This record gives sequence, structure tokens and C-alpha cells, in this order.
Amino acid sequence: MDLISLYPTWYEPTVGSGWVVALIATFHVLASHTSVGAALLFAYLSHKAYREDRDDLLDFIKKYGLFLMVFTYVAGSITGPGIWYSTTVASPNGIGALIHSFVWKWATEWVFFVIEVVGVYMIVYLVGRVDKRTHMKISVIFGVASLATMVIIVGILSFMMMPGKEVWFEEGGYLNGFYGTNTFIQTGMRMAFMFTMTAVVGGIVVASIKDPAFKKEMTRKLGWLGIIATLTGAAMFQWYLTSVPDQALLVMENRLPEYFQTSIIAVLAGTLAYFIITMLRPQTLVQGFAGFMAVTILVAGLWPEETARESMRKPWVAGQYVYSNQVIGRDVPGMGIESQLPIIEKVGILQAHPFTPDHLRELNNGNQIQAGEFIAMTYCSNCHSPSETGIRPLHRYFPEGVTQERVADYVKGVLTTGNIAYMPKMPMRDDEAEALAAYLVLNNKGGQPAVTAAIDLEIEQRERALVEKNAQDKIAAIEMEGK
Ligand code: HEC
Repeated sequence: MDLISLYPTWYEPTVGSGWVVALIATFHVLASHTSVGAALLFAYLSHKAYREDRDDLLDFIKKYGLFLMVFTYVAGSITGPGIWYSTTVASPNGIGALIHSFVWKWATEWVFFVIEVVGVYMIVYLVGRVDKRTHMKISVIFGVASLATMVIIVGILSFMMMPGKEVWFEEGGYLNGFYGTNTFIQTGMRMAFMFTMTAVVGGIVVASIKDPAFKKEMTRKLGWLGIIATLTGAAMFQWYLTSVPDQALLVMENRLPEYFQTSIIAVLAGTLAYFIITMLRPQTLVQGFAGFMAVTILVAGLWPEETARESMRKPWVAGQYVYSNQVIGRDVPGMGIESQLPIIEKVGILQAHPFTPDHLRELNNGNQIQAGEFIAMTYCSNCHSPSETGIRPLHRYFPEGVTQERVADYVKGVLTTGNIAYMPKMPMRDDEAEALAAYLVLNNKGGQPAVTAAIDLEIEQRERALVEKNAQDKIAAIEMEGK
């Protein structure tokens, strides 16, 4: 049998799987980036505390470390596996692609993460119990281990956009997949923004410092860190854009939500203003203000950033060979991987998909709409929600009252041929394209449940057929008479 490696589609009604993943990922980015940045900040502060023999700095590390343990480490460790669960069901072949190339990288990352978690406890609870020099050494190990987790993950993330080097497709090899220009620039950019987050979240801790002179000093330190990091990050972002595939730029330019640019610029400007204001007047730095800024960055900065990252990869989800809808769309000789498109072209998606319900494998008049829904779920729902809400709802693209015929023409002319840069090639037999069109047209009528709508449609079709038949009978009768 011609079956390909597809799995049941996970679809969350009203939000879709994409938004669930994005929501978890956004929290995770805030938690993880803040922790890594803070680890490096602690290494610096602990070093300074040792050099200048200062207890107040160690006390600050202890407070900030405790805050991180309670918030970012807990949030990070909950959302981290959350990303695994959600992406594994949303994108089994995408995750498969990453695991096939990087399973040992993940193991390495995990080792560093263990050091990081043990490290944060040591950093916090050993203040005052070991001498400053030892504390400094532990801080440095903690900082390096934290950074290592991030560098490894960024290598894997940039593989999702594209393999590090083109030869990877021919030769495989994880170093070819891992290291590319994009990896390095992205690492730099993330490091910059991670310090921005560390400085903002750190403000919540600085706000509680009683001694005005020390508060002023720490506000200044975090302020400078934040300003330099934010400006560097913005510059690195411009550089980063030069390292992504043309395709990604095309999607960026044409297809990002309108709020994206405004949102990012507003957040950057707001963040800089926040640092400048608090540096000039440290007394304005209160917990509410710092907390508000942290939430603003989360909502207005990271959410658009995660959405953009997701959009820019289109139509791929990993390594430029796994489509977002999980179909393998390209040969990768280096990994012994073959495109699944020829099989689908040969037998159709309903036959090729191992989880097609038995009653939908063969199309007939009675199961057209249901089969169409199954195809939409399989092929489209990872990128387009078939309901009113969620990611790029499908019905928005078709004008009110569009005919099934026109939709079918579009499906056959554009989608099955792969004639569009940001969507995968989605081969379908003609009857499958008709079924999809039948479902899409119904879906367009304001989301009527497929079953009742299907019955309506069938009644309508039968009535129409009857009218046509009557007309034809009449014509035939007239013609007969004429003879
Ligand atoms: C890899 C993700 C992806 C998949 C899978 C996908 N699309 Fe799209 N589609 C997009 C993107 C991105 C756009 C651009 C529009 C936007 O961002 O709002 C788009 C746009 C469209 C449009 C608007 C027409 C146009 O020319 O821009 C239609 C219609 C459409 N998709 C239908 C479908 C259907 C039907 C399926 C399933 C058979 C499907 N798409 C599968 C990503 C996808």
C-alpha cells in the first residue's frame, strides 16, 4: 500500500494548534531568556562583589536569584515540556526531523540545563556560606552552563528556518545542519534581547531595594545594560534579515499582520524610554512599573516576534523539507529521506494518509463534504483555522457567495500545483479537489456545521438536479414533437 508518514491532525476548536504552541512558546521565551541573561549578569556581579568585597551585590544576586527560581524556573520548566507536548502533536514530522538530526544535541543541552538548575540553587543559598571567591567561581560555571543551553537550542531553532549549510541536503551530518550564518546572527540577536529582558525583570527586584544609593547604582547598571542590549538587538535584527531565505522576506513584507511593525517599534521605543526615565529618576522605579513593562514586552514584543518566526518559515516547518502540514516535500539524500509528493500525486491524499477513516477512502456523493473536511484538516488546518477564529481563518479568503466551481478551480490551479510561494504543494486527485471545494464553500457560509449544511446542500443539489431534469425532459419532449 502507498501509505506515507502522516499522523492524526490535532486541532483545537476556535484556536487551532498554532496558537496553543505560540502561547506556550511566548511564555517560555520570556522565562528562558530572562534566566540566561540573569545568569551572566550574576557572574559579572559576583565577580565585582569579590573584587570590591561587597556584600550588597551578593545580597542583590540572592534576591534576584530567588525571584527567578520562583517565577522563571517554575514557568520555564512547565512551559518547556509544554512546548514538547504541543509541538509533538501539532507537528510530529517536524519534531521528528529535529530529533533525527539533533538528538545528541538535546542530550547535551539537558546536561547543561541540569548544571543550570543546580547552579541557581547554589548561587542563591550559598551566599554568605562560602567565601566570595568560591561564589564567583560557581557563578561563572552557572553563567557558562546557562549560555550553553541557549546556544544549543538556537542552533536547532535556526535549523527549523533552514539547515546551516546547503550541503546538508546532500551529505547530512549534524554540524552541517547546525552551524550556519543564520545560527550565529540569531544567537547574537537573542543574547542582546535576553539582556533587555533581564534588565526589565530585574527592575522588579531593584524596586524593592531600600538603600537609595544602592538602588540608584543598580538602576543605572540595569538601565545601561538594557539600553545597550536593546539597541544592539535592534541592529542585529536588521542583520538577521539578511541571513534568512528570500522566501521568508517575501512573507515578512507581504504577509505579516499589520500590527507587527508598529508593535515592535512601540515596544523598542517604550523600553528605551523606560530605562532612561528610571535611570534619571530611580525613585520612579517601583514594582508595578517594572512588572507592567515585563508584561508589555511579553504581549507586545514577544507575541509578534513568535508569530513572525512562525510565519517566516512558511511553507516549511523544519529544515526546508517538512511542510507545515507535515508532508515531506523534498528529497534529502543526505538523510535518506524521500519526498512524499510523488506518492500522493499517484494515489491521492485520502489513500496515502494512514489515518483516513475507512468510509472516506473512496469518494462518493454521500461522503464528499466529510472527506473535504478531512482534507482541509490534514492539509490546511496547521496554517489556516477552518473556524471563525484562530490562525488565518480559511473562510476569510473566499468572497461571500463564491461558487464551489470557482473554489475547485483555485484548488486545482494553485494549491495542487504548488504555484504559490508561501503554501506547500498539496497534490490532490480531481475528485478530492472537488470534495475540498465543496467543504470550503460550506465553511464560507459563516461556519454552518458541516453535517446540517451538507444535508441542506444535498437537498439544494437534488432540487437543482430535478429542475434541470425537468427542463431537459421538456426540451427532449419539444424536440421529439418537432421531429
Ligand atoms: C504552510 C502553511 C499553509 C498551508 C498548509 C496552507 N496555507 Fe493557505 N496560506 C498560507 C499563507 C501564509 C497564506 C498567506 C495569507 C496570509 O498570511 O494571510 C495563505 C493564503 C491562502 C489563501 C489566500 C489566497 C492567496 O493567494 O493569498 C487561500 C485561499 C488559502 N491560503 C487556502 C488554503 C487551503 C484551502 C489550504 C489547504 C488545502 C491551505 N491554504 C494550506 C499558508 C498555508
